[in-house]
Amino acid sequence: MPNAESFLADWPAIDGIEGWLDHPAAALMDSLLAAQDDLQVAAPGLLEIGTWKGRSAALMARHLRPDEDLLLVDAWLKTDAIGEGIGRLFHDRPRPGRIRLLQGESLSLGKHLAPDRMYRYIHIDGEHTAAALRNDLVLACRHLAPAGLIVVDDIFNALYPQLTRELFTFLAQEGRGMACLLIGFNKACLCRTKMMDSYGDWVFRHINAAMVQRGIKVSLCRTTDRVEWPGYSLVPDQGKAHRGPDYQEDYLRP
Ligand SMILES: C[S@@+](CC[C@H](N)C(=O)[O-])C[C@H]1O[C@@H](n2cnc3c(N)ncnc32)[C@H](O)[C@@H]1O
Repeated sequence: MPNAESFLADWPAIDGIEGWLDHPAAALMDSLLAAQDDLQVAAPGLLEIGTWKGRSAALMARHLRPDEDLLLVDAWLKTDAIGEGIGRLFHDRPRPGRIRLLQGESLSLGKHLAPDRMYRYIHIDGEHTAAALRNDLVLACRHLAPAGLIVVDDIFNALYPQLTRELFTFLAQEGRGMACLLIGFNKACLCRTKMMDSYGDWVFRHINAAMVQRGIKVSLCRTTDRVEWPGYSLVPDQGKAHRGPDYQEDYLRP
């Protein structure tokens, strides 16, 4: 099973693939995929919208289980680069599961997916407009397994304010069954509200160690009460593992 040790061993090969995923965000994505192993989330498959040359896709491929497939969707699919990058990562071992490539705008992805096709982990990193993100979120929620995670890129990246506004508008207007579990390193991680306790417990207990083992020291935070904000934030190390509200900095409520 992929773990922190294999992440560190694989990172140079993943880092050799041109793209946008940096080490902290990769460590976070990898930790969340490891959480799904710990929580024994069932295995219907993985989906990425926006693959470029396959940097984050290679990281996701690490976690493919033998009975799963990884569907990579991109409007301008770089098939050769994706094949080469993922091929280099798995040059000395069998590639788990199956990887499928689909060229096209995510707007038309719905018609390629059977209505009952579910994914346990969906990475949204495609067109960086609010309209496209809304489409991708609607589609992701429709095809998210009950215990699945959606990871959205470039949230709280000042270059793309429209994405942050759209994500929270979506959650307020349409995502009543969805909640924001964790925000960190420009990624927002969503799960169904029914899974907030399970994933929240995992994050509280394990995320600091999981990130350190992957080379990134962090502080886990919630700077208000759980009614205002039920999820967590993950930030570069603030000199303490946990950071609570300004009025009680040293106490982070689970
Ligand atoms: C930021 S890049 C993805 C980066 C990649 N995840 C990585 O780890 O390097 C965004 C990708 O989204 C694709 N894209 C842009 N608009 C799209 C759309 N409407 N539907 C699907 N893919 C789109 C682009 O071709 C590009 O490859």
